[in-house]
Amino acid sequence: MRNSPFRSESCSICAVILLVQAFLVFASFHSVALAAQQPATNDARVGTAPQHSDGPWWKHAVIYEIYPRSFQDSNGDGVGDLNGITERLDYLQSLGIDAIWLAPIYPSPQVDFGYDISDYENIDPQYGTLADFDRLVAEAKKHNIRIIMDMVMNHTSDKHKWFLESESSKNNPKRDWYIWRDGKGVGPDGKPLPPNNWISDFGGSAWQYDPKTNQFYYHEFYKQQPDLNWRNPEVEKAMFDVVRFWLDRGVAGFRLDAVPALFEDPELRDEPYTGGTDAYGDRKVSDIYTNNLPEVHGVMRRLRALIDSYPGNRVLIGETYLPNVEELDKWYGGVKHNELQLPMDMQVGFINKLDVSAFRKHINEAENDINGNWPLFVFDNHDNQRSWDRYGDGIHNAAIARVIASVLLTSRATALMYYGQEIGMVTTPPKRKQDVRDPIGIRGWPKEKGRDGERTPMQWSDTKDAGFSTAAATWLPVATDYPTVNVETEQGEPDSLLHWYKQLIAMRRNDPTLRDGKQLTLDENNSSVLSYVRQGVGGNPAIVVALNFTPSEQTISLDPAIAGITDNTVKTLLTDAPSLEQTNSLRNIVLPPFASWIGSIQ
Ligand code: GLC
Repeated sequence: MRNSPFRSESCSICAVILLVQAFLVFASFHSVALAAQQPATNDARVGTAPQHSDGPWWKHAVIYEIYPRSFQDSNGDGVGDLNGITERLDYLQSLGIDAIWLAPIYPSPQVDFGYDISDYENIDPQYGTLADFDRLVAEAKKHNIRIIMDMVMNHTSDKHKWFLESESSKNNPKRDWYIWRDGKGVGPDGKPLPPNNWISDFGGSAWQYDPKTNQFYYHEFYKQQPDLNWRNPEVEKAMFDVVRFWLDRGVAGFRLDAVPALFEDPELRDEPYTGGTDAYGDRKVSDIYTNNLPEVHGVMRRLRALIDSYPGNRVLIGETYLPNVEELDKWYGGVKHNELQLPMDMQVGFINKLDVSAFRKHINEAENDINGNWPLFVFDNHDNQRSWDRYGDGIHNAAIARVIASVLLTSRATALMYYGQEIGMVTTPPKRKQDVRDPIGIRGWPKEKGRDGERTPMQWSDTKDAGFSTAAATWLPVATDYPTVNVETEQGEPDSLLHWYKQLIAMRRNDPTLRDGKQLTLDENNSSVLSYVRQGVGGNPAIVVALNFTPSEQTISLDPAIAGITDNTVKTLLTDAPSLEQTNSLRNIVLPPFASWIGSIQ
């Protein structure tokens, strides 16, 4: 969530030992885990087109984020759960996704709806049990869908046993597992002064005073989310044990929450003020001493070595809001490729306006400036207003949503989606402060309304609670557009956004060019239309994509010479403009407002 733009060594003997250890651990686990640990090569797909075995599965994957509270309630309590997700696997398979990223389902006081974990090795009862989880993994595997866990390593809940021990006394062996410091004496109001000016991402000082031991602890997020001290090797060991627990259970990888925030400046230097105040009234600072410190890369390399000791191409995805592509490349390990396989590229998806040159620049950077690493594009998640609203102009939102889907799914990057994106769910923020559930919305109201708006229940049908639940009241209200914007209705409409997503995902799965072809910019001075070519792979034709980013008709003539192609004869593969269906040449293509066109060069 940090810097969310919307808001404001190896040795061969060691490797052998690790492999033997890994085998012994596997052998002790039950069949579900063993079944899920088969290597990911030769992915036979049930009910979907075959995916070609040209690299690890995650390179061509569509990963789908589920916010478990809001996806499907199976027991009528108004809150989504694991069995609900299992019930909906047929749908997810028909959509064509390869993996689910599950937002946190661990036991939690739910102050930050699961991002405050009180036990890393269990399931919160409101979402189900470990047996339900194992069933989900096993059933998902039958649907060729992998499960990726959200791993919150920066902080725990203040109710986690590690913190309860740590806060109990200055001499407790776990005291140094968190960041405890003396304050700067007492202020004019008689209150203890924090160690420095660091502020929480969620408002106010990042230091919480504990009268019992007369010290402060550091919390990047809520005060109920104390930061772990990653300078203590015991913390790393404990957290890596947690990672092994889930790998042994058969998960395909992890999405690392707020991971650039793991380390803080040991000297506790004040962050520089940058002028003005944020939505919470705090003076704005540059977070140079609390974010993206270089020490984090050592942890990432060790974590990568750990997951690579498991079979099946387990993957590490990072929540990496970073300032530029140079910083992003470091998270892959640059030329060494030895850190995360997929740190999220937040440059493309969060431009937040249809600016052709910004899209072109950032797509080119992802293609060319990350040392042969593999990009991961994302437009939507549980922390940001939905792309429907961020990019929509209020008139052409449906066409614009197709443009965004086309960028996401015809680029050479792995694609990350968020539930409901495929049907065009809108952001529905609370109208009154008393209805807000997300604490940052309560604290920041009305400037910051919180993240409830992008977390409303999934809209399955035009029935009670949109088919999400049978409860009298759901944890967040269902958005009012559910009678028309829902899965069942859109399944019956050939021109729906849902069908657009399904077609794009199927094309991407089937076409080696869309899967692997190098992406080259066309018509690079055009400020209204984004066009690119994907170079043909394995004798398959090159593919051209042209997307009108404006509300006016645009005429383009594209020259694919940059891809070594002299022919201009094309065949339309997919378009949302009937007038473009018969397009057979790259000359004088007339794109209606916000039209998307995808064709192959014959
Ligand atoms: C990440 C999560 C966000 C959470 C924060 C603190 O940014 O995506 O939802 O509030 O971390 O864990």
